[in-house]
Amino acid sequence: ARVQDVKGNKVKAAKNMAFAFDIDGVLVHGDRLIPEGRRVLDILNGDNELGIRIPHIFLTNGSGKPEVARCEQLSKILHNPVSTDQFIQSHTPMRALAEYYNTVLVVGGEKYRCREVAEEYGFKDIVVPNDIIAWDETVAPYRVFTEEERRESRPRDFSKIHIEAILVFSDSRDYATDMQIIMDLLRSKNGLYGTVAEDPVSERIPIYFSQGDMLCPTEHPIPRMSQGAFRIGLEAMYRAITGVELERVVYGKPEMATYKYADEVMASWMETLHGEERVPENIYMIGDNPASDIVGGNMYGWNTCLVRTGVFQGGDNDEDNPASFGVFKNVLEAVTTACRKEL
Ligand code: G3P
Ligand code: MG
Repeated sequence: ARVQDVKGNKVKAAKNMAFAFDIDGVLVHGDRLIPEGRRVLDILNGDNELGIRIPHIFLTNGSGKPEVARCEQLSKILHNPVSTDQFIQSHTPMRALAEYYNTVLVVGGEKYRCREVAEEYGFKDIVVPNDIIAWDETVAPYRVFTEEERRESRPRDFSKIHIEAILVFSDSRDYATDMQIIMDLLRSKNGLYGTVAEDPVSERIPIYFSQGDMLCPTEHPIPRMSQGAFRIGLEAMYRAITGVELERVVYGKPEMATYKYADEVMASWMETLHGEERVPENIYMIGDNPASDIVGGNMYGWNTCLVRTGVFQGGDNDEDNPASFGVFKNVLEAVTTACRKEL
């Protein structure tokens, strides 16, 4: 009976803990698996002494593809199922904006694939930069526009269409073109292409960014610039050209809205796994970027674990945003240490 009790308590504890995983720099580098990532998911999906599933969600600032496509891709890389019901990428909470804006400019993603993401979110009228270039090539003087791009564009007379908001969903694949077009729209009269507002503020359309990371770990040895760097550049240009600061909204880690959204996802994933819709008490965020994963998790009262497989390359702990649960060699070390503490 004692043995049964001990097991019962461990099962209870396992249902009262959960993990929030960052993806890039923790489980994968681009499309390349970090081997400990696969092992960790095997363990949490039931290959553990209790034989039960320990709840975990994925909270990534990654972006650029619909959730279904990204989860399929990750399931293959990680050799473990990744459900859209346990998955939040930077633009996932931006789905809610579809209710407020009709015509939007959507920026980012390979071949402006974010158009697909916006369609999936229910946005009604979606414009991507290539649609504008196809209408007037002089908009982007340095762009070499291919035949394929022309075929895939949907040109219209943008001098007659009010674009109501700008949504940067993912990394720009062409800073020069995207910055030019965003700048044109920010300076225009209520999003009417080809106009310039006299007062830069009162007729300015809003701009949203899906995340603010400066750097992103990739296959390249030194982390690459990410959407935060693009935004800072844009802000500086906007200030220099108009003389005023650009107001903007940023989603993603470490913004509070993203963690609140994560709580909702965590609770409903708990319901799916264990039939109890609630947020477990002991949450562990595992991330590689102190400036997004760790600072956000700390602010939200989660236990934070910093791993050495991504952006962080410092000493004992990060000086500005130290991880509360510690620094680990990799994700496997972090997860086994957390499980040892809780179970
Ligand atoms: O910085 C961009 C993004 O790829 C980072 O993703 O999973 O580390 O939040 P993640
Ligand atoms: Mg990361």
